[in-house]
Amino acid sequence: MNPLAQPMRRIGATRVLLGARELEYFAGCDYLGLGWEPKLLAAVANAVLGEGVGVGASRRTTGNHPLYGELERALQRFFGVRAALLTGTGYTANWVAAEAMAGRFSHVLMDERSHTSVQQAAGVLGAKVQRFRHRDPEDLERVQRRLPAGSRIVLMTDGVFARDGSVAPLREYRKRLRPSSWLWVDDCHGVGVLGRRGRGSVEFEGVLAERLIQTLTLSKAFGVQGGVILGDADVIEAAMERSPCFAGSTPLALPLAAGALVSVTQLVSDSERRERLMSHTKRVKVRLVSCGLLDVATPGPMFFVDASPRLAGRMKRHLLNQGILPPWIHYPGGPASGYFRFALCSEHTPQSVENLLEVLEAVGKPK
Ligand SMILES: Cc1ncc(COP(=O)(O)O)c(C=O)c1O
Repeated sequence: MNPLAQPMRRIGATRVLLGARELEYFAGCDYLGLGWEPKLLAAVANAVLGEGVGVGASRRTTGNHPLYGELERALQRFFGVRAALLTGTGYTANWVAAEAMAGRFSHVLMDERSHTSVQQAAGVLGAKVQRFRHRDPEDLERVQRRLPAGSRIVLMTDGVFARDGSVAPLREYRKRLRPSSWLWVDDCHGVGVLGRRGRGSVEFEGVLAERLIQTLTLSKAFGVQGGVILGDADVIEAAMERSPCFAGSTPLALPLAAGALVSVTQLVSDSERRERLMSHTKRVKVRLVSCGLLDVATPGPMFFVDASPRLAGRMKRHLLNQGILPPWIHYPGGPASGYFRFALCSEHTPQSVENLLEVLEAVGKPK
């Protein structure tokens, strides 16, 4: 069976073409609609014409265009961290950081629902991996208690979980971890979205940057593509020096770096989009909790509906009737049979959010 989804074409921040049919889109991860922001698109187009597309070599050889350093400095300022390093994707940000830190830890404490890229990176670290129950600081403590004194510990987790918008209790983890332990947060879904300045779950939770590694993607709220590692200078230096993946791969295409620079310096800091997104999120989640479709109103702009085959069929028909794409997906971390994963975008209008809510409330209400 072909595992790929039905081909579709995005034609705006919140619109999609499925075959010949134009539909409203509550999916994907372009949470601030920046993938369609004219300033960003103009920067990408100008870079294509002015700089070309690829640099044709790794940054350790002849591919270190100045734009990469410029973007890294902008990211460093935006996140208020000591150093930043670009990688080809968010997935490889975890891989490259793990190659850099290999041998530094004896034990990984892993949230059992961490993204596959985080789980795979743990394998690269060469430490013993112990899983704790999803977002459960008490279970973390129980698992940690069994580790020998002197263990060199790193806790690895997603910052925001893509399935339901829940946030890892990072502050509580910090409190309970042994004092010399590290925290590794894959914040692909948190950055740009959470925190007063859009610095993600680390800002939202008020966690200090000490012994902290953050990995992120430019392909979601930043509206482009590429990955980033944030950390202290020695972590970033180790990634540049010791990671075969970083040394042996071509960096992200220049037009993407140019687009990301506009995104980081001008767009993601615009709090209006984030405020609109948070207001949509609050409104949708409060309503869905009150009609019983959700258990809790989590902070992230995404949620899922795990429907029986009959309900799923009905939901798909109603969504299509209302001109909304049914976002039915199969993805690790969710029910194997598939589920609806909805995502809000700051650029949805209040009316389109209302339309979605009306369908969900009418169809999904438990009898
Ligand atoms: C939590 C998490 N980490 C990493 C990634 C990988 O990011 P990218 O798509 O930039 O490779 C994703 C992508 O969906 C993700 O959800």
